[in-house]
Amino acid sequence: MEIKYFLKKEKAFELMAKIIIEKVIEKPNVVLGLATGGTFEKVYENVICLSKIKNVNFSKVFTFNLDEYVNLKQELYKNSYHFYMDNNLFNFININHDNIHFPCNFQNNYNSGELFQDYDKKIHDIGGIEIQLLGLGANGHIGFNEPGSKIDSITRCIELSHTTIKDNSRYFQSINDVPKKAVTMGLKTIIDNSKMIYLLAFGENKRDALKRLIDSKGFDPNYPVTILKNFKNLIIFTDLKFN
Ligand code: F6R
Repeated sequence: MEIKYFLKKEKAFELMAKIIIEKVIEKPNVVLGLATGGTFEKVYENVICLSKIKNVNFSKVFTFNLDEYVNLKQELYKNSYHFYMDNNLFNFININHDNIHFPCNFQNNYNSGELFQDYDKKIHDIGGIEIQLLGLGANGHIGFNEPGSKIDSITRCIELSHTTIKDNSRYFQSINDVPKKAVTMGLKTIIDNSKMIYLLAFGENKRDALKRLIDSKGFDPNYPVTILKNFKNLIIFTDLKFN
């Protein structure tokens, strides 16, 4: 595990974008694991900017998003992660839409616990994910693997925790509009298929969860991020300092 400290998070966003762009140039058919949320808006903005400057070809790149809401009302489609990705990245690069993957359709309803083995199989069959981007939930989630997630979890439908619903309500008019469920890549899916993981965590509300990872001796299901403790190729970008 390597921790890269940034005084200004903007520098981290720039570096993350540069790493992605360089990888696409080096390997045009690279497989990327993508995250959404506030943390990645500026990363993708920088990717778009650099891709224009360097005239980068994304037409052979494959992407697998980490998660998506479930049973989102039609009028709230702008809150879907499909919409987020289109508006923050895909509409501005020449990606082939057949190469974009999400774990589910946000308009459908699924039962919590329902497994999405096909998603894991697709990721496995394509040869895994070269660069997996992860944000960090204040409650220690990665993807939407909420506290209580199992070490061997695969892509599945889960119930969002109250903390996550509250945190994500900033994107909705009312907290009642926030979906109660999501489909997320599992902890095992992430660990087994990623070659390189970048975990980005900025701001004091991420301190506790990040410290749990740094101090952990092994996997603690109360803080799913601790699954990364023994993952060799992990780089953490943060503006938090720990003694
Ligand atoms: C989003 C995702 C989540 C977020 C996390 C942090 O695809 O998987 O784990 O990365 O909730 O969200 P922000 O960046 O909004 O603080």
